[in-house]
Amino acid sequence: MRELVLFNARLVDADTDAPGAVLVRDSRIAGIVTTDRADSTDSIHKGLTGLCGTEFESVDCRGLTLMPAFIDMHTHFRYPGQSEKETLETGLRAAVAGGYGAVVTMPNTKPPVSDPETARRIREEAAAYGLAEVFQTLSITEGQMGETLSPLESLEGIPVVSEDGKDVEDPSLLIGAFRLCARSGALVACHCEDSSLSRAARVYASPALSRLAEDAATVRNLALADAAGAGGPKSRIHICHVSTETSLEAVAQAKARDLSAVSCEVTPHHLALSTDGEDSPRPANQSPRPVNPPLRRASDRSALVRGIASGLVDVIATDHAPHTAADKGAGAPGFPGLETAFAVCNTALVHGGVITLGRLSELMSAAPARLLGLDHERGRLREGFLADLVLLAPGESWTVEGARFFTKGKGSPFEGMTLTGRVRGLWLRGERVFPFSR
Ligand code: DOR
Ligand code: ZN
Repeated sequence: MRELVLFNARLVDADTDAPGAVLVRDSRIAGIVTTDRADSTDSIHKGLTGLCGTEFESVDCRGLTLMPAFIDMHTHFRYPGQSEKETLETGLRAAVAGGYGAVVTMPNTKPPVSDPETARRIREEAAAYGLAEVFQTLSITEGQMGETLSPLESLEGIPVVSEDGKDVEDPSLLIGAFRLCARSGALVACHCEDSSLSRAARVYASPALSRLAEDAATVRNLALADAAGAGGPKSRIHICHVSTETSLEAVAQAKARDLSAVSCEVTPHHLALSTDGEDSPRPANQSPRPVNPPLRRASDRSALVRGIASGLVDVIATDHAPHTAADKGAGAPGFPGLETAFAVCNTALVHGGVITLGRLSELMSAAPARLLGLDHERGRLREGFLADLVLLAPGESWTVEGARFFTKGKGSPFEGMTLTGRVRGLWLRGERVFPFSR
């Protein structure tokens, strides 16, 4: 039996914010002691004396904050097939350096991940690194070709399916996917983008058409989920990287109809950045910071921030999308996001006075755990839960330098910016995995 005590910390999760200590026994949280009194390290120590044995490792967390490790519902590790952009190892190291204990990896790899055996094998290969846990998604259609459904009948251990990178054009296929996934309870994560409108947006260099490409697809996909669930088990739909005010409004309306079946995520870059201030807003293919969905107007960004504050937005997900410098130079859309997510959100949302650190913990840990069906043992500081714990210095400022990232994707839209909030340590299943020992 191995015991570890993390003491003198500020403990924060979706429903706690108090000074205290956490006792870890082997891979799980064995006890939590909090107090409302600021000068009460004594009472915390007393509280722990009854809980742990005589021999234990202890870590003094004075001045630091301990939270449940983050869970990313939207990551691209490019495995298999694009090791020049990222490998399992570089992606996992980036995740851990960013405070993540689990990541959902998207299937737009080479070849795409379209069968459950491959998804489970990737998950096992990732586990061998002893870093963050990987939940590999399956593409909705075979090979992401949009022609036939992937085998979605047996999804044990696969909590999410997604066509991310593009949308499923054929409505009948998507309805079929919703129906099959309603049986297993898997989440259908939708990249909402009408490809013909996106094409027109590029041809006419029109940000308005680009927004419409997202808005129309969001409305359509939510309606298809409704239609698929009529008269049978409800299909669960999750809208990925919502970036416009209208799209978020569509999510709000769908939630008003059925809160439990609809969820959405927003990325740190869409919460912190917008195109206003540029000479003229440009569509993604002409943007100096290409990403899909593109950075939007300040009014869209404000709507997303309001959605975070009101509780409408369920989770913050990175859409970590690493590319080589050459691909970035050629306009490949996507940013590395794992290593800046906490600092960006802490700076823009918590220091910006929009939400508390506890609400940020809900958005980055508790809510993703709930949506992935992991909330019986992850996402909160709770006795019996896995000891996946991130140690943070929420007041520490640092300047983003992509060259220092662990991911292979160095082209961050936050390059050179000073952010507040730093990951100081990460324990996964009670083992310290960050800072790295090698
Ligand atoms: O910017 C993006 N990059 N958006 C996506 O949907 C896909 C991603 C990627 O895979 O590079
Ligand atoms: Zn996407």
